Amino acid sequence: MVSAADRWASALAEWAIPGPILAQAEESPWRLRPESLAETARLALLSAPTVTHLRALEELPEGGSVLDVGAGAGAASLPLAARAGEIVAVDSSGAMLQELLVIADGRIRVATVEGTWPQAAALVAAADVVVCANVAYNVPDLGPFVAALAAKARRRVVLELTAAHPQASLNWLWQHFWQLERPSAPTAEVAAAVVRERLGVEVAQERWVRPALRGGRSDPITVAEVRRRLCLTPESDREIAELLRSRAPAAALEMVTLWWPGSG
Ligand SMILES: C[S@@+](CC[C@H](N)C(=O)[O-])C[C@H]1O[C@@H](n2cnc3c(N)ncnc32)[C@H](O)[C@@H]1O
Repeated sequence: MVSAADRWASALAEWAIPGPILAQAEESPWRLRPESLAETARLALLSAPTVTHLRALEELPEGGSVLDVGAGAGAASLPLAARAGEIVAVDSSGAMLQELLVIADGRIRVATVEGTWPQAAALVAAADVVVCANVAYNVPDLGPFVAALAAKARRRVVLELTAAHPQASLNWLWQHFWQLERPSAPTAEVAAAVVRERLGVEVAQERWVRPALRGGRSDPITVAEVRRRLCLTPESDREIAELLRSRAPAAALEMVTLWWPGSG
């Protein structure tokens, strides 16, 4: 019987881009743009709380502490600022943490820790609630990652991820430009199974939809993003734009929020 952790890791490995295609990339296809995550965080502050925020707020006492792992620009934690006393944001990218500090703009006490989870767990204290949004698909070894989240949560861990791999929406373009069949696994179901298997806890989950930030857009920023993700060059820009316009836009992204008790 293959463990959930092994299913997760082997399915993620299938997302590796074949060497000959990668060799043609002008920029890393995997790099995340801090400006794009800043846009997400600013929008989160202007929008109604998501399922992730509500599940975090349920266990967050007035003035309590939040640990945000893979915080990016703070979309998962900054909307909790009205209740929280402190946010500790951990991210492997210092540029992301800079964006978070600018957006936080003194609305709450924020401490940042530049480091990679789970190793960075040694650098932070336990918090009332730990949130971790849109990071899991970057983590092949998910067992130790979620175990460290649980170890740092007094009351609850809230883990948000897309129902399917965040780049699955580009699969048809990979087929078009490179005649490459991309994977569809793993899914959020496998992530939930890894948590159950590793921690032996009940994992609650709720599916919800997030309006697609750039759904249906064929503006230059979106085209450049698609070009980079697909290891293409600017000569393909016109064709990318035409293809994006030709296809009915995805109006929403299917999300899953998982949560489980902390270590007390
Ligand atoms: C897609 S972004 C999500 C950011 C934010 N949580 C959100 O939902 O908007 C993923 C973030 O996780 C960070 N990251 C990825 N793997 C990480 C790891 N193992 N430890 C710490 N940060 C990580 C990246 O630098 C990036 O800022």
